[in-house]
Amino acid sequence: MLGYATLTPTYLARTLNREALRQHWPEIRRVVERGQASSLYCSIATVGEDGTPTVTPIGTVFLGANPGGFFFDRYTSDLGNNINANGKICLLAVNSSKLFWLRSFLLGRFTSPPGVRLYGTAGPLRAATASELSQIERRVRSSKWLKGNQLIWSSFTQVRDLEFTSFRPVSYPAMMERLWQ
Ligand SMILES: Cc1cc2nc3c(=O)[nH]c(=O)nc-3n(C[C@H](O)[C@H](O)[C@H](O)COP(=O)(O)O)c2cc1C
Repeated sequence: MLGYATLTPTYLARTLNREALRQHWPEIRRVVERGQASSLYCSIATVGEDGTPTVTPIGTVFLGANPGGFFFDRYTSDLGNNINANGKICLLAVNSSKLFWLRSFLLGRFTSPPGVRLYGTAGPLRAATASELSQIERRVRSSKWLKGNQLIWSSFTQVRDLEFTSFRPVSYPAMMERLWQ
């Protein structure tokens, strides 16, 4: 029987550097957007000063035209402390839309990449700009009339910058044909 490594093209199995990151950035942005929309968050992994890893759900990641972006940091403790001590992060986004998985399974191939991991750094807490505040406002506008919207999002005023240097697709041994080309 063929092993996973045999079936997995090398470009899917390894971490791709800055040049590949730039080349694939528009696709990566779409994968992160779909992941965040379907799962409600991205996972951000960080490491504490004593080496303890942690993963934090963050639903306010915004990516820009270049490999980076920002997220609103309001409620975190370990995540923020870890970043302040060691800015290195890994961000994971997975498309968990049931419709996407159903369609992909019916066709026998993923219709778009199922997920991606981005590696880089997060910066110190800073005040969000007017443009960043309007981006979060647009994103949560549809639930403005709901009580939880005010309770959770009205105090989002501070962000951390994200800068990415490499990425790694989330891959399966099958159904990945024609992805990440
Ligand atoms: C779906 C989801 C999205 C979230 N998005 C954010 C966010 O964008 N910003 C934030 O500060 N907290 C957000 N949180 C809350 C943090 O994940 C939560 O406070 C977490 O416990 C912080 O972990 P830490 O204390 O280990 O840093 C979110 C939580 C969930 C469940």
